[in-house]
Amino acid sequence: MTVPYMALKEADLAGKTLIMRVDFNSPVEEAREGSVLRDTTRIDDHLDTSIMPLFELPRPPRNIVLLAHQGRPGRNDCTTLLPHFVYCRDKLRSKGIETAYVWEGADSATIRQLGEEAVASDAVLTRIRSLPERTVLMLENVRFSEAESRVQGDQPAAFADTPLIRMLAEVDNRVVALDGFSVGHRAQASVVGLAALGPLYAGPVVMREIEQLSRALESPKAPMLLIVGGAKVDDSLSSMQYFLEQGKADTVITGGLVGLVLLQAQGIQLNEQTETNIGAATRDLPQTLAKARALMDDFGGDKIRVPVDVALGPRQGAAVERAELTASRIDRSDPRHIGDIGLQTITRYTCEIAQANTLVMNGPMGRYEWPCFAHGNEEILRYAAYAAQARDAHVLVGGGDTGASLGALPTELVGHIKVCSSGKAFLEVLATGTVESLIGVRMLARR
Ligand code: 3PG
Repeated sequence: MTVPYMALKEADLAGKTLIMRVDFNSPVEEAREGSVLRDTTRIDDHLDTSIMPLFELPRPPRNIVLLAHQGRPGRNDCTTLLPHFVYCRDKLRSKGIETAYVWEGADSATIRQLGEEAVASDAVLTRIRSLPERTVLMLENVRFSEAESRVQGDQPAAFADTPLIRMLAEVDNRVVALDGFSVGHRAQASVVGLAALGPLYAGPVVMREIEQLSRALESPKAPMLLIVGGAKVDDSLSSMQYFLEQGKADTVITGGLVGLVLLQAQGIQLNEQTETNIGAATRDLPQTLAKARALMDDFGGDKIRVPVDVALGPRQGAAVERAELTASRIDRSDPRHIGDIGLQTITRYTCEIAQANTLVMNGPMGRYEWPCFAHGNEEILRYAAYAAQARDAHVLVGGGDTGASLGALPTELVGHIKVCSSGKAFLEVLATGTVESLIGVRMLARR
């Protein structure tokens, strides 16, 4: 499938400094030695798909400056990129590629105090200008820059005066690229603002994700099955609405909190615990329920499948502590967590999967990270992978935690699944049917 954007591989990179926005945002955890990465799927993807192959091109860039974020301002996961740098350094060194980080040796508290200066300043510019050949320089978390969240706009010019774009405008002989499809929904300096610095090329990860999504959205091989789960209830209902109203999906199967909201919309009583979780996951509960009801009224009998049974268990419980219950028999005062679809539902859903030729999945079927609730998600992914293996079905799985969620499957099965590691961006595209709904994609230079 040909896409209308300029691919980075086609740019004249020889001798240039490539400034590239990636998405290294990963689950992190605080440990005694500082923050530690819990999953490196996204980082590996950029390293394996883009950064290492770019240096293998016959006319490679002179060096690469990476822009990335970690977490959201105000949250605990908004940390420095030191662990990301260390991970990249160790992996790239084996390929003869050097890695640099402006604040190597400084402790994270000091870097944070620098704020804006840590990301864009004369010191950083000097470092960029003196970079040796075949070196990847990682800038600090762009969200330490106050302007990154404050300045918004749908035109590159709106960001010309931000410290980041002012600094990068001083870099001679540059090429700019967007390689983080999953940040494509952000109208921010490190995404939209880059287009003020020259034609914005589509990096290999962005190209791959655009091609996969376009294939599933524009020319899906029927029957098309949409699989919706996870906790992003409002966005998921919007994507169901789009697929069903446009006649794109033949069937939708549902799990996670989305499936439970649809049960609630049908008048099925849930327990208090789950109602609280749903309340926290929705912007306006009455409105969400009204939307869910309308979807069930319009498409429920024919096209939407909701769980007929659920799995209950204790928080973080072991697999043996899992109990199954028909959905209509849930007791409001049951203190356990409803964290997965039940076995009957799994059986019904796998029959739907067996008939589909295009499968698009967003969000897990349950709290797969707790052992007692891992079964539903694992089985749905397994059968989706079989469909791809046996019948060449196009299986596209997206969502921020996709990497971790696929971890339970054997590697040779995962290989049959096309993965989009975007969360919000993936859902935004599913709700509109076009990658152009992402502002970052609209900024890409066209052929
Ligand atoms: C993600 O995790 O989906 C991306 O890194 C984007 O993060 P954001 O929604 O905080 O911009």
